Amino acid sequence: MHIDDALTARKSVRAFRPDPVPLSLVTEILEIASRAPSGTNIQPWKVHVVAGETRRRLEAEVLAHRETQPADDGAEFPRTSKRKEPYITRMRTLGKEMYSLLGIPKGDKEANWRQWGRNYQFFDAPVGLLFTLDKDLDAMSFIDIGILMQSIMLAAKARGLDTCAQGAWNNYWSVTRRVLGVPEDEYIICGMSLGYADESAAVNTLVSEREPLSDFVTFHGFD
Ligand SMILES: Cc1cc2nc3c(=O)[nH]c(=O)nc-3n(C[C@H](O)[C@H](O)[C@H](O)COP(=O)(O)O)c2cc1C
Repeated sequence: MHIDDALTARKSVRAFRPDPVPLSLVTEILEIASRAPSGTNIQPWKVHVVAGETRRRLEAEVLAHRETQPADDGAEFPRTSKRKEPYITRMRTLGKEMYSLLGIPKGDKEANWRQWGRNYQFFDAPVGLLFTLDKDLDAMSFIDIGILMQSIMLAAKARGLDTCAQGAWNNYWSVTRRVLGVPEDEYIICGMSLGYADESAAVNTLVSEREPLSDFVTFHGFD
């Protein structure tokens, strides 16, 4: 697959088929993605790959915790929920398109809660990835993890697999830490679903918008 085709075809998939992904394929994707660059080559990423019984236990424990302690939903590292324009509009556009495909009416809090909970089932993907980072590192290392994640998503796409990056997994981090034995000195930064897309699911037809270059690029020094 040409890199441009992988870049264009990759999109967030939020409904997966149960077909298992062989360990050898997951390993191949991680091997190639580990060529991702990182500042001064410190390779700060750690990845927990979950499948089978561990995946089921993680899902069950996080979902149970979420029901009993719904307010325990912040990240362990500093984040803000404050949003301003143009981000609010972009976020709402995505939400509107996605929830309309899911048939969830605006204001249906119960259905919204359930749908967000699908994150903690990895949208039924057989494999989940959790990315963790040494707490002593700084914002530059978050960039490195993002680059690794995109590398994984592209390598997966080139092999017929789909993904969804999931910031949702930085919530309820205490449960994930306990179930996977993530050391206290690491943050749980993000999760990712990995598997085969359910092509019949309406939500997977969503192609998110992008702003034109004129909105975010400033060219300097070109005549
Ligand atoms: C760091 C990061 C965190 C994300 N977290 C979530 C998430 O928790 N749940 C979800 O459904 N999508 C999540 N997404 C997917 C974004 O909503 C998606 O990338 C964006 O809308 C663009 O759509 P596309 O990936 O289909 O191109 C996340 C993406 C990134 C890069």
